[in-house]
Amino acid sequence: MFTLDGQTAIVTGGASGIGLATARMLAGMGANVVIADCNEEAGHQVAEGLAKGGTGSLFVRTDVSEPGDAHALMTAAASCFGSLEILMHFAGIGMERPALDTTIEDWNRIIAVNLTGSFLVMRAAGSVMVEAGYGRIVSMSSTAGERGGTGRAAYGASKGGVAALTRVMALEWAGSGVTVNTLAPGATDTALVQKMHDSETRRAYLQGIPMDRYGVPEEVAAAAVYLALPQSGYITGVTLPVDGGFMSSGVIKRG
Ligand SMILES: NC(=O)c1ccc[n+]([C@@H]2O[C@H](COP(=O)([O-])OP(=O)(O)OC[C@H]3O[C@@H](n4cnc5c(N)ncnc54)[C@H](O)[C@@H]3O)[C@@H](O)[C@H]2O)c1
Repeated sequence: MFTLDGQTAIVTGGASGIGLATARMLAGMGANVVIADCNEEAGHQVAEGLAKGGTGSLFVRTDVSEPGDAHALMTAAASCFGSLEILMHFAGIGMERPALDTTIEDWNRIIAVNLTGSFLVMRAAGSVMVEAGYGRIVSMSSTAGERGGTGRAAYGASKGGVAALTRVMALEWAGSGVTVNTLAPGATDTALVQKMHDSETRRAYLQGIPMDRYGVPEEVAAAAVYLALPQSGYITGVTLPVDGGFMSSGVIKRG
């Protein structure tokens, strides 16, 4: 019943972590997959791996913060596969730094990639999809965009902005067959998190997670794919937590 046969999906950030897990899941459901990432070597490898498994795949080197790259990405996807039904916009960077230590350069870099990048890529995909009268866009927010967390001034602001942007695009395109939703993952074990979370940070996170564990990329990918199904056409403007209960929790008594 659930298939993406014949559809084309772009996955930004598809060379690693949550994007990689999502690209594999989309391929498993029959979609053509375009990997868009600034990591050329890993991106090529992922696209080649998918092709070996029989998936129509393409790698397009993309810096999501570059205004020209988003448009070039849509053109490359269309000329290779002829249509674009799904955008998974997951490319992003992390930073943990107290507000008082955050420089204007730190701020500008995080906002440029996470927030301006989302605007550029979602706008470019939306333009193709609105014209075609069908589309599924899934963007990437974070629990850090919904809750205050220490060290999250620039990152949290960028992800809160992604959720707001997602709601606006969802409303503006609601009559065009295009749904726009965002994911708010909690701590998910990927390369980004393994670099950023030392054992003290891990302990602090686990205290607030009712399931008492980090998520894995496949659990976020499954939520993304669900929102991209043709059958999910009545869900739009939603921020979906994938967080082991973190956003629902208050006092947690263990044992
Ligand atoms: N892992 C978590 O705990 C977690 C939690 C909430 C939200 N997120 C978000 O999920 C997304 C994916 O994170 P991940 O943990 O899989 O990280 P990751 O580092 O494993 O993957 C991110 C990918 O994005 C690519 N990328 C970075 N900057 C880019 C740019 N300017 N242009 C194109 N590609 C770029 C990287 O090369 C990499 O392949 C990010 O937006 C992150 O903020 C992650």
